Amino acid sequence: MVKPDTWNPTQYERFEKERSRPFYDLANLVRRQEDLRVLDLGCGSGKLTQYLHHKLVARETVGLDASENMLYKARQLEGNGLRFEFGQIEDDPVPGKFDLVFSNAALQWVNGHEALFEKLRAKLLPNGQLAVQVPAMDSEPVHIISVETAQEFSKELGGYVRRLEVLKPEDYARLLYKLGFVEQEVKLQIYGHLLPSPEAVIEWYRGTLLTTYEQRLDVETYERFVSRYREKLMKYLDDERPFFFPYKRILIWGRLRDSHD
Ligand SMILES: C[S@@+](CC[C@H](N)C(=O)[O-])C[C@H]1O[C@@H](n2cnc3c(N)ncnc32)[C@H](O)[C@@H]1O
Repeated sequence: MVKPDTWNPTQYERFEKERSRPFYDLANLVRRQEDLRVLDLGCGSGKLTQYLHHKLVARETVGLDASENMLYKARQLEGNGLRFEFGQIEDDPVPGKFDLVFSNAALQWVNGHEALFEKLRAKLLPNGQLAVQVPAMDSEPVHIISVETAQEFSKELGGYVRRLEVLKPEDYARLLYKLGFVEQEVKLQIYGHLLPSPEAVIEWYRGTLLTTYEQRLDVETYERFVSRYREKLMKYLDDERPFFFPYKRILIWGRLRDSHD
């Protein structure tokens, strides 16, 4: 049985400073326009959505997330044009078109980026902007080992494996061009995070990638899963304190043609 929600805002926010840096870089790529209607996909606990809403002086900002745990915190921030809705990004549950579709560290959970970006483009008004940040860690031990561990627990997981859906930066650039974005910026950026120890990497991933396995395993099996993941991963991480953790992320921004361009 898949548990409905294993996202935990407290675990997620343990690395708030490190996780929010790319968010601010992404938010800085967005062009200021008056009276924006903004959609934030996979908004999480809503703090950064609220920051974006204020920074852009938006008329309306809707944060969408599929975790009630995350939304419980987010909803406490509602008001003055900011609100939050429950739903799956792939179901496109928020009606209407937007001046900005924004998503920080969430679209890697949705498969089929070519079709997904086409759908997101269809949510934009003329002159609309798309701003997306996804981690590019799929070829790193932290991710490869999670796949290997899932394969070892194949029986308990019913064959489920979480593979991250991320294209190469140049493929996002091609895709934006193909979808009619007249301006774009796509870049790969390495964020060097100084964590207290290599063990902190496990805690980091418990707050994100591993939640998908937590959803599908009982408590005892999940703890065995994490121990095995730790045992295998530690062979790849230097035993240094503090621990330098280079984290690759892709920042994607594009603007559609204004009807007057
Ligand atoms: C890593 S967190 C990022 C949260 C926030 N954007 C931030 O920058 O702090 C990913 C969020 O995406 C949400 N999420 C993952 N897959 C989703 C989906 N298919 N539909 C809606 N939300 C999803 C999770 O519930 C989680 O809150």
